[in-house]
Amino acid sequence: MDRRRLPDANGRYRERGFWDARYREAGAEPQEWLGGLSRFRRQLEAELRPGDRILVLGCGNSALSHDLYELGYTDITSIDFSPVCIEAMRARYAHCPGLRWAVMDIRALRFPDASFDVVLEKGTLDVLTVEERDPWHVSPPAAAALHQVSRVLRPGGRFVSITFAQPHFRKPHYAQEAFGWSLRHAAYGDAFHYFLYVMCKGQRLASPDVALGRKLRQPPAPAAPALPPPPAPADEDYLRAIEL
Ligand SMILES: C[S@@+](CC[C@H](N)C(=O)[O-])C[C@H]1O[C@@H](n2cnc3c(N)ncnc32)[C@H](O)[C@@H]1O
Repeated sequence: MDRRRLPDANGRYRERGFWDARYREAGAEPQEWLGGLSRFRRQLEAELRPGDRILVLGCGNSALSHDLYELGYTDITSIDFSPVCIEAMRARYAHCPGLRWAVMDIRALRFPDASFDVVLEKGTLDVLTVEERDPWHVSPPAAAALHQVSRVLRPGGRFVSITFAQPHFRKPHYAQEAFGWSLRHAAYGDAFHYFLYVMCKGQRLASPDVALGRKLRQPPAPAAPALPPPPAPADEDYLRAIEL
């Protein structure tokens, strides 16, 4: 990673202006966060069916949409909130008629309910969570995006989320009954592992996952009562008073 392209503060990853500037510099030259399709093709293809209507969230300049197209998944809509990115990607893949591109915010998807068989994201929800105070409290923007994903998935559709976030931290956020999906995950990578979470709309969460999700929404336990003040030091110098 070229350190000159790192933001001065993590919160900038959430700003459209940051990504516009970055894509103005990099164009549509493919760059993959968390690795390209060859790293997780087996796990991902297990979730895809021929003819699936696929939505890719926060596509960036990743080659993923095009690589899937080449494999025969030819109905793919890719969105990103950076117009610079989308313009470059549209030009780069103009020769692929089934690849569609749109400037859109994942927190406010402009698609009808139940209009996709698969929603796919890689590293995009991670961007919405970069400034969270701790891994237990997902920010309203990330929760809004998850509600949108659930809304646009048809019953039986799959949401595939590829992230560096470990199950311990990410599962409780996906294991919400309100989304109406089941949850499982797999890991990929060699030394450093990434994770692929699969949510199937219309299937039930396993009981332990329901419990995980509910625990997240429980109000924090009240603070422990303050300890009593330590006793005042004795006036006497008791060490000197000991007669040996
Ligand atoms: C870490 S990059 C991942 C890019 C790509 N998915 C990949 O795997 O290489 C995050 C992408 O999400 C986009 N993004 C961030 N917040 C967004 C939002 N609220 N709505 C739509 N796109 C967003 C950014 O413009 C950027 O292209």
